[in-house]
Amino acid sequence: MIYTRIAGTGSYLPEKVVTNADLEKTMDTSDEWIRERTGINKRHIAAEGETCSDMGIAAATKAIGMAGIEVTDIDLIIVGTTTPDKVFPSTACIVQRKLGIHGCPAFDVQAACSGFVYALDLANRMIQTAGATTALIIGSEALSRVTNWQDRTTAVLFGDGAGAVILQASKEPGILATHIHSDGQYADLLEVPAGISSGYDAVRAEEAYIHMNGNAVFRRAVATLGSIARETLDGHGFNKSDIDWLVPHQANLRIIKAAAKKLDLSMDNVVVTVDEHANTSAASIPLALDTAVRDGRIQRGQLLLFEAFGAGFTWGSTLVRY
Ligand code: COA
Repeated sequence: MIYTRIAGTGSYLPEKVVTNADLEKTMDTSDEWIRERTGINKRHIAAEGETCSDMGIAAATKAIGMAGIEVTDIDLIIVGTTTPDKVFPSTACIVQRKLGIHGCPAFDVQAACSGFVYALDLANRMIQTAGATTALIIGSEALSRVTNWQDRTTAVLFGDGAGAVILQASKEPGILATHIHSDGQYADLLEVPAGISSGYDAVRAEEAYIHMNGNAVFRRAVATLGSIARETLDGHGFNKSDIDWLVPHQANLRIIKAAAKKLDLSMDNVVVTVDEHANTSAASIPLALDTAVRDGRIQRGQLLLFEAFGAGFTWGSTLVRY
């Protein structure tokens, strides 16, 4: 049996920080409202010209260093992103070029905030079937580029950043289970309406920004994260009490607390970075994972549950023996 283990993690946050107090100066909002409704205190914003691949490379370099591998060992690159550098080629191919790797498969996964768990699912399957031995998986987002800074209902929620993991084939577990889902009937509830095939010339400025029905997304996210946790644990013979760390998508502290409650988990066993990073979509889980690995909370041998939910709707989970 070939398993997939996480050999290294890395993350990157842009230098520029925008606090809630900064937003108070430019829109009709307050630090108190943002903290109470979302748990967010600040977010990092990419510098002018700083791209998804730039941030992904910074995170990947740290993950490669922790794993102790050579760049040339990498035989698969997947980037989860909704804010790619270009329409094409994929951000994964741009990362590949910047790393100086040639020939291995490199592609993006567009599953919005679930992009990282989707990428883990795919990489795990490829490693288990001997299609790859050493995979670089990145979640990277420049959401500030699709944020309408005049719209207080969305602008306070999002941030930029990247996280990465190196996955390696192993005789020891590893990734124990992955589940990914989507339901396109909810596609209109959270979207950036602008597209390519729908007619670039016709794109109006406001269509190039995030549009969201916050209340509907909130309700669906809470219900769905409960069901994905049950599916993941029950299907693989684990109990809620077996989980050492929940590493959830970081959208809103209230959603994270509801997810923890459904698992009977104390918040002491939940990695929370939404206060510092805001919602970084596909980057949020690997950013949170790397934070807790590097500060020593997450230890080898512990059982981790990643849970994600995002536009589409898409959702998914990964159960990992770290
Ligand atoms: N500052 C101050 N007031 C704000 C505000 C802001 N940034 N944004 C909205 N408001 C106002 C609204 O206009 C509304 O005012 P009204 O009562 O006078 O109409 C009031 O606050 C309540 O708005 P509401 O949307 O009902 O608040 P909420 O408790 O549902 O919180 C969200 C809004 C967006 C924080 C919440 O719905 C949410 O987190 N949804 C999920 C979003 C998400 O996670 N998306 C990504 C998923 S991957």
